[in-house]
Amino acid sequence: MSATAPDRRISPPDILARKGAEPLVMLTAYTTPVARLVDPHCDIALVGDSVAMVLHGHPTTLQATLEMMTLHGQAVARGLAHAMLVIDLPFSAYEEGREQAFRSAAALMRDTGAEAVKLEGGRHMAETIEFLTRRGIPVMGHVGLTPQSVNTFGGYPVQGRGNGSGRVRDDAVAVAEAGAFSVVLEKVPATLATEITRAIPIPTIGIGASADCDGQVLVVDDMLGLFTPFKPKFVKRYADLGVEADRAIAAYAADVRARRFPAAEHLFADTAPQK
Ligand code: KIV
Repeated sequence: MSATAPDRRISPPDILARKGAEPLVMLTAYTTPVARLVDPHCDIALVGDSVAMVLHGHPTTLQATLEMMTLHGQAVARGLAHAMLVIDLPFSAYEEGREQAFRSAAALMRDTGAEAVKLEGGRHMAETIEFLTRRGIPVMGHVGLTPQSVNTFGGYPVQGRGNGSGRVRDDAVAVAEAGAFSVVLEKVPATLATEITRAIPIPTIGIGASADCDGQVLVVDDMLGLFTPFKPKFVKRYADLGVEADRAIAAYAADVRARRFPAAEHLFADTAPQK
C-alpha cells in the first residue's frame, strides 16, 4: 500500500492529486478473492471489459454487457477497502450519445458503488466526458489502442507511430480538457507516451506505453500467468500460476484415479469425536 494512502477508499481527486508524484498502481480484478489480493497493493482496481475475454472466454471485449460489468463490479466492490473501483463502460452502452452514457454510467455507479467509470475514445468522446463529469460521474479516459475498436483497427496494432502521433496526442488533450481525472494510454510508442504525460495536467496510466507515465495498469490474469493463450509484449509475467494450477489439477486427477484421494484425514467417522 502507498505510504500516502488515506484510511478509506481512494477517490478520483486523490488520483488527480498524484499527477507527477508517486506512480499510480492499477490492476484489473473481476472477483471478490482477487479484489482482496489487489486491494492492499494497488491504488485502483479496474473491472475492465477484458472480463469478457479473460473470464467468459469471448473472442473480444465487444461481448461485455452492462449486466456482466455490474455483477463483476459488485463482486469486486466487496473485496475493496482501500483501492478505488473503476468500471469500464462496455461496448454499445455509451456510444449512442451523452444521455445513453449517463444512464449506463449512473446505473453502474449506483448498483456497484464504483467511484468512477472508464470509457474508450478521444476527441469524439469529449462531449460525452464533459456531460458525465459535470453531472457527478468521474471519468477515466482511454486513448491510443482502444480494444473495443478491434474491428475498425483490424486487430490490435500500436497507435501513434509516425503521422498517427498527432491524433493520439490530440485525443489525450481532448479527454483532459473535457474533465477526465486520468487517462489510460494503451499501446503507444514510449516517446509519445512520455510527451503526452508531460503535456497534460491529469495522470496518464500506461499499458504498453512508457515508464514515465504517472501510473501503470495490467490485466491481473496476464501478469499472474493465468490467461495463457495471450502474452502481449507489454505484459511482464510476475508468476506462472497457470502452470502451477495445471500441475495441481493433474496431481488431483492422478490421486482420484489411483484411489489415493480422499485419504483417512479427509473422511468422517460414524460418530462425532469426543470433545
Ligand atoms: O479492459 C481492460 O482490462 C482495460 C485495461 C487493459 C486498461 O481496459
